[in-house]
Amino acid sequence: MLTNKKIVLGVTGGIAAYKAAELVRALIKKGAQVKVVMTKNAKEFITPLTMQTLSKNQVYTDMFVPSEQYDMAHITLADFADAFVIAPATANIIGKIASGIGDDLLSTTIMAQGKPTLVCPAMNDKMLANPVVQENIKKLKKLGYVVMESVEGELACQTKGKGRLPEIEDIVEEIETLLTAKDFKGSKILITAGPTEEPLDPVRFITNLSSGKMGYALAAAARRRGADVTLISGPTNLPVPVDKIIKVRTAKEMHKAVMDHYRKAAIIIKAAAVADYCPTKAATEKIKKEKKTISLELKNNPDIIADVGKNKGRRLLVGFAMETQNLLANAREKLKKKNMDLIVANNLREDGAGFRTDTNVITIIDRSGKAEPLKKMTKMEAADAILDRVKLLMKKSATKK
Ligand code: CTP
Repeated sequence: MLTNKKIVLGVTGGIAAYKAAELVRALIKKGAQVKVVMTKNAKEFITPLTMQTLSKNQVYTDMFVPSEQYDMAHITLADFADAFVIAPATANIIGKIASGIGDDLLSTTIMAQGKPTLVCPAMNDKMLANPVVQENIKKLKKLGYVVMESVEGELACQTKGKGRLPEIEDIVEEIETLLTAKDFKGSKILITAGPTEEPLDPVRFITNLSSGKMGYALAAAARRRGADVTLISGPTNLPVPVDKIIKVRTAKEMHKAVMDHYRKAAIIIKAAAVADYCPTKAATEKIKKEKKTISLELKNNPDIIADVGKNKGRRLLVGFAMETQNLLANAREKLKKKNMDLIVANNLREDGAGFRTDTNVITIIDRSGKAEPLKKMTKMEAADAILDRVKLLMKKSATKK
């Protein structure tokens, strides 16, 4: 997503300035072009040479330099950038932007540009809590700047509190969000993800190989595109990409959570790998190794997507089909039987598809039965491809109204 995107990174003088080096690395790794502007105080914490080496670009530090070094930098940088990021942002730069002060290259450049701008405050907790700083942050938000929340934790001044720079991967995610068109703004999407666990006794359960990666990628992509996302997730080890998450364990719990929430959503995407069966009765105490053989009796779990399909109204319902044989025929049958609008099919036997990988090889099938096979791609790309098809269906159903 960040391939060839042009980012101007402003670095100001706080101890977290050293983390800006990691941010440049992360952005370059994602294919972005980065130009760094440093304030005089930032240079006390980290050298321009570090930033120049990592960004592979000249670093801009002073307003007044011979024109052969950089020509009207505050204007050319504004033209160059797809987005501006200030990380770390001190109370001082926040105050200057809020008050319209341009007394150095960074503050002047920010004033001379109208591009999407992300501000990542990092400072001592008491400075951050200062009402003037809070007022200034509010003002920036009102003016359209995106201001990230500082994180709670240990601060350089040996206190604990809120004021840390957000994690680099979270800043990168926010930059991707900043640069993504908000074509799902105003859409409520419910997404399920991950496996379910069906307890046999207090220490054992039946589950499957789902990692949740596909569903979480869908949630992240939908959030980036401006959707209001609710994620219902079985147990996973993944970082949560959205604000609204409902964590469940069993298929029954997932069924209840979906039934409680799907009516508010316009789009429901069921990427979870729900266990079809659960033990008829879970033992309340640990099952002892007493007999040579034991049998497990299993009963059907509720079919969540089928239940949604029965009462879905105008909502768009997207399901998944993971198969080891007869991919298209099985998927088409599931779509019909469960009243879905789209089904995303993948073949578990295919290289780079299915559980636990970061890639997927999917075929998207619609109600007419038309199958669109897509090449191997990352799960984030697959998520966007699925959302693109959902968008087309939304447009079609809007013209039908
Ligand atoms: N699904 C569901 N509730 C279940 C089982 C499946 O909501 N109890 C949903 C999955 O989230 C997926 C779709 O149904 O979107 C298809 O799941 P899949 O496991 O491929 O199909 P099943 O209907 O369970 O059929 P089978 O296991 O026989 O292939």
